[in-house]
Amino acid sequence: MPSSILSQLPSLAYGGDYNPEQWPEATWREDAELMRQAGVNLVSLGVFAWAQLEPRPGEYDFGWLDRVIELLHAQNVKINLATATASPPPWLARLHPESLPVTAAGVTLWPGSRQQYCPHSTAYRERAAALVERLAERYREHPALVMWHINNEYACHVAECFCETSAAAFRAWLQRRYGSVEALNEAWGTAFWSQRYAEWADINPPRSAPTFINPTQQLDWRRFSSDSLLECFEIERTILKRVTPNVPVTTNFMGFFKPLDYWAWAAREDIVANDCYPEPRDPQSIIGAAMGYDLMRSLRGGQPWLLMEQVTSQVQWRPRNPLKRPGQMRLLTYQAVARGADGVMFFQWRGALAGAEKFHGAMLPHGGTDTRVWREMAELGGELAQLAALRDTRVPADVAILFDWHSWWALELECRPSSDITMLRQLEAYYNVLYRRNIAVDFVPPGGDLSGYRAVLVPNMYMADEALAAALERFVTGGGTLVMSPLSGIADARDHIYPGSYPAPFRTLLGLKIEEFDPYPLDHSNHLRTSDGARFATRLWSDIIDLEGAQAIADYEADFYAGRPAITRHTLGAGQSYYVGTCLEPDGMTWLLDRALGEAGVLSPLAAPEGVEIGRRTDGVQNFIFVLNHNDHAVEIALPTPARDLLGGAAQVERLALGAFGAAILVDAESDSGVSG
Ligand code: GAL
Ligand code: ZN
Repeated sequence: MPSSILSQLPSLAYGGDYNPEQWPEATWREDAELMRQAGVNLVSLGVFAWAQLEPRPGEYDFGWLDRVIELLHAQNVKINLATATASPPPWLARLHPESLPVTAAGVTLWPGSRQQYCPHSTAYRERAAALVERLAERYREHPALVMWHINNEYACHVAECFCETSAAAFRAWLQRRYGSVEALNEAWGTAFWSQRYAEWADINPPRSAPTFINPTQQLDWRRFSSDSLLECFEIERTILKRVTPNVPVTTNFMGFFKPLDYWAWAAREDIVANDCYPEPRDPQSIIGAAMGYDLMRSLRGGQPWLLMEQVTSQVQWRPRNPLKRPGQMRLLTYQAVARGADGVMFFQWRGALAGAEKFHGAMLPHGGTDTRVWREMAELGGELAQLAALRDTRVPADVAILFDWHSWWALELECRPSSDITMLRQLEAYYNVLYRRNIAVDFVPPGGDLSGYRAVLVPNMYMADEALAAALERFVTGGGTLVMSPLSGIADARDHIYPGSYPAPFRTLLGLKIEEFDPYPLDHSNHLRTSDGARFATRLWSDIIDLEGAQAIADYEADFYAGRPAITRHTLGAGQSYYVGTCLEPDGMTWLLDRALGEAGVLSPLAAPEGVEIGRRTDGVQNFIFVLNHNDHAVEIALPTPARDLLGGAAQVERLALGAFGAAILVDAESDSGVSG
């Protein structure tokens, strides 16, 4: 791809979802004029406009869209044109009731909200393809068209459909995967509970059943459901690539979103886009946003991504919807840019007056331009217009977290040793420490390239195979540091447990074996004592570990396994692998990661006070250090070398003063090439 996919924009992308179909034509001209004033250079257009683009079956109306596009083009606003297929018009359900999705309990989901389509419905697929074809043909030469926005937030509301058509598609998918019913019976372990299948026709989606459904059936269903929507995406992408081969395509992701294997999806698009709505008064939610941004950057190997949706002020879909405080919208925008975004956009441009989203924030709120939100938003647009130098710079990271959707799905099926060991909990335990230490981290899928990292963290890899074990052994032997947590290496890709002691594929890597697990009741805790005299609480889980070459660096304090290892360290070649057989509280996790990452030579970039987030982007020569004050009070930071704040004028400073929710982008004197700001 070109060095910067959004190179047709003058600077970082700035704008939002624009829904002109909700407004009279007289408003459009004002919209376009105000967009220019606010520094908007890109809008996502027509995301939910199918019913206006094809008001009756086969009867298309593009006239209004032509006029909107001309108005935007006249103000030099570029267009991320939606394919509008996320929400079919109600007539599709009337003509093709079989196009409606059906839940596991057999309930049909009707029109009246959005996203009511079965991914396998022929009627849906054909009508969607016909619309996309016409949109592509109509606007293929338009100079304002810079990107295609395929569908919208796939699986956000309807991630799977259990109808007869989908059942048939599931059978076909299983035939491709297994070849024979015999092989499927073996993989699904159907010798159990009289589940053995005689014929393909006997196999169904995991519809509501008396009790626990076959786990491999559920796992394959999740794989199939992610693939099914990806097929819908592919149908559209293929048309767009044929008609407009040079226009990049994207669809908007939702961070750590369980239903879709974004590793597989991101490989099919030109640029990753993400939607993110942290609860602005919840610090953990803001850390979660950062974690999602790091994933978005990682999905295409560090390539810049786009924050397609955030909100200026507040959403309407939580039970309580606090406002972003003054400055916080700007701060959270720079959080995304610091983590590799080359543009930030909002849902939505103009605050709606009707419909379920009328209390959702907007760039142009109900109160118009004489409002705090408008002023902060337009000022931010002006500021981002000056930051073209950041485009296509990269976020360097020494640490990788191994992360896999299939393990996530399997880990959280029912009937596990403890429902408290969830993927996000395990990830956050690690990520929160890295975030507080301001250590940059990439995510890597199993099979991904680990060679550029000093440390690899494995919060959970429930399903693993010999190939992954070998790759991790190579990484450690070659001098890397690895840290792994419980319930890793338990099962193969069919969710069959490896016989022998746990974690079978990782025993050489870790130098240990695990004979039993002891999940705790929620109100229970144990403690561990470290070899250097510290004492930390443990929660939720204990592995009962036997050493096979590793050394204990912390032992359990209580219970029948008191004195047995809780955390181990194993030297393998030039590196070392740590295993933590329990769930640590933040203090214990900090102790462990400080030790392991210290050994790996991973450094924090800049000492910062509590609540101050540091990020770094670089073009290889010039470093941009983001300093983000999430506190509702001012802070001062002594800089190791004098630096200029791109957001603060020309002066070199040695002490950086940031107000509540303040942000700075520092260029150090040595690497400063005088980019504007
Ligand atoms: C997103 C969606 C938008 C809008 C927004 C509200 O999930 O893509 O269309 O509904 O949420 O926060
Ligand atoms: Zn269906």
